[in-house]
Amino acid sequence: MKITTLPLDSFNSLEVGARRYFVLQNGAKPVIAPSECPHRGGPLNLGRRAACAAKLVCPWHDNAYPIHSIERGALPAIRRGDQISFVTANEDIRVWTEMLPVNQRDSACEDA
Ligand code: FES
Repeated sequence: MKITTLPLDSFNSLEVGARRYFVLQNGAKPVIAPSECPHRGGPLNLGRRAACAAKLVCPWHDNAYPIHSIERGALPAIRRGDQISFVTANEDIRVWTEMLPVNQRDSACEDA
């Protein structure tokens, strides 16, 4: 087991061994969520928020997943200030930043 600590603004995507993850904002809480859709492995990191950001819609077949259910597959993590520490198996970790649509605010919710 390995604990990695990184500045939150230094990445939004990572690979742990062969599995990909992305940083998903659940309110103020960052979650390191699996990118693989539970349906057929689509790229959840490229999904869009729906229903006032409570769900993430997979771009392949438009299934919507509650954020709390996606969070169940997330890496154990804790945020302290501007840093996040997460636990992985003793595997290689690669991090990077890319354009992701998932953390964009749903404008339909702003008037609610
Ligand atoms: S692969 Fe995500 S909904 Fe089918």
